[in-house]
Amino acid sequence: MLDEVVNFAKMYWNDFWEYWTPVTMISVGVIVFILEGFVGLKAEYGRYNKKKNGLPAPIAWLIQECPSFFVPLFLIFYNNAKFFDENKRINTNLILLILYMVHYFNRSFIYTSRIRSKNVVNYLENFLAFIFCGVNGYQIGHYHTKFVANSLLEWNFILGCLIFLAGFYINVDSDNRLIRLRKESNGTGYKIPRGGMFEYVSAANYFGECLEWFGFAVASWSLPALAFGWFTLANTGPRGYHHHLFYKEKFGSDYPKNRKALIPFLI
Ligand SMILES: NC(=O)c1ccc[n+]([C@@H]2O[C@H](COP(=O)([O-])OP(=O)(O)OC[C@H]3O[C@@H](n4cnc5c(N)ncnc54)[C@H](OP(=O)(O)O)[C@@H]3O)[C@@H](O)[C@H]2O)c1
Repeated sequence: MLDEVVNFAKMYWNDFWEYWTPVTMISVGVIVFILEGFVGLKAEYGRYNKKKNGLPAPIAWLIQECPSFFVPLFLIFYNNAKFFDENKRINTNLILLILYMVHYFNRSFIYTSRIRSKNVVNYLENFLAFIFCGVNGYQIGHYHTKFVANSLLEWNFILGCLIFLAGFYINVDSDNRLIRLRKESNGTGYKIPRGGMFEYVSAANYFGECLEWFGFAVASWSLPALAFGWFTLANTGPRGYHHHLFYKEKFGSDYPKNRKALIPFLI
């Protein structure tokens, strides 16, 4: 009887993280996309935090992003995830989880030690982002600490990893360009970003981020990864478009005419 209860609880726990959490994230993503893209709401940090209440950006970003690194790290030990099974087959899920954690190690600890923004992140935004990173860290970590072997040479794993790595490079390169611009403008004011993917889109950092999580979803071929990829697009896409309008209004005819908002040559 006890065994049956435990098995039922385990099954429910799995369904919760592998089905209900991603489905909820996809639904919330639709609402965020509508609110930011069509109603015009903007998350209150950076250039859009007019009230100036909240934590300094480097501290806020460190607090809100680090669960996405620590929760999967905990799950690797808790679920005793291994790179190889007894037949020396490699666990491709764990490779993907390491890529996810590399991204969030950079975002939580390296990126935050380098940004010089004098803007603050609204307390509520900060809290919601912290919850999101914890929940997402758990759903991605829960799924990717399971053993999945023999998919190393499958088309989706190779293609997805290549897209992820290209996105990671673009995201870090674009972050670096913005960090330099922020230093040049002494922590306040905005200049026209130049070079790299900024020659094609106003929100090159968001373009890189979307590519990363789209590639991750292709490589993982799982509902949790798809939900996160969609949420990233739903969240950063409209914000990138607002950045584009902000630059066009601020710089007028000095702003490069052919530059799109988020997707090169398209939008
Ligand atoms: N996965 C997700 O859902 C998600 C969501 C949001 C962000 N992110 C990632 O997190 C990172 C930071 O995002 P963010 O929203 O803070 O990006 P952002 O608005 O582009 O700002 C990035 C940093 O650069 C500065 N900056 C931006 N444009 C500038 C300009 N024209 N001149 C001078 N300084 C400028 C900002 O200063 P100010 O703070 O003073 O504006 C800030 O410190 C990005 O890599 C993004 O892809 C991911």
